[in-house]
Amino acid sequence: MEPSDWPTVGREWRAETGALAPAGLTSQLGLHRRENDMADVANQVANRIPTNLVVNGVRRTLDLVPWTTLLDALRDHLALTGTKKGCDHGQCGACTVLVDGRRVNSCLTLAVMTDGAEITTIEGLARDGALHPLQQAFIDHDAFQCGYCTPGQICSAAGLLAEGRAGDPDEIRELMSGNLCRCGAYPNIVAAIQQAVGRP
Ligand code: FES
Ligand code: FES
Repeated sequence: MEPSDWPTVGREWRAETGALAPAGLTSQLGLHRRENDMADVANQVANRIPTNLVVNGVRRTLDLVPWTTLLDALRDHLALTGTKKGCDHGQCGACTVLVDGRRVNSCLTLAVMTDGAEITTIEGLARDGALHPLQQAFIDHDAFQCGYCTPGQICSAAGLLAEGRAGDPDEIRELMSGNLCRCGAYPNIVAAIQQAVGRP
C-alpha cells in the first residue's frame, strides 16, 4: 500500500493492515480523526430533538441529543435524582421507572423513544402527601438497608402490581428478579410487596 492510499483515519488503517503508520503520520491521522469526531458531535448537538414527556403528571419539553437515555434525562435534565444509576447496562434494575404504566430500565431506553409518554418515577408515587402503599410497606417491613436499589424496587413492584401477577412469594421473586439488592433485603422486599398487594 502506498502512503497516498492510506485512509484518513489511523484506526482503520491499523485494522486493515495490522501495521502501524510512521509516527508523524499517526499523529496527523489522529488529529484528523479527532477533528472529524468533534465535527460529528457538533452536528449532532445542533440536531437536538424536542421531546415531550409527562413526568409525574407534569408536561415537560426537553431538547435532547439523540443518545440521551431516559435515565439521564430524568436525573440530569429534570433533577429527578430519585431514580438511580447502578450498572447503566440493564442488569441491576436500579433505574426502573414506569413508562405508560409499564416498568422499564430507563438506562436502556432512549428518551426520544418515549416522546409523548407518561413517565412515573419514585417522586411521583405519593398522592396528596400520603405515601404509596408500596412505599409504606417497604417502611413497615424494613425492606431496605442502604436504599440505593429501593426506588427501582418500588417502581418495579408498582408495575408488577399493575400487571396483576404478584400471586405468591415465588411469583414475586421471579417477576422481581430484574431488580438486584446488594444489601440482600430480598425477604423483606417480598413481604412488603405481599402487604401492598393485600396478601400478607
Ligand atoms: S442502572 Fe439500569 S439496569 Fe442498572
Ligand atoms: S437496600 Fe442496599 S442495595 Fe438494596
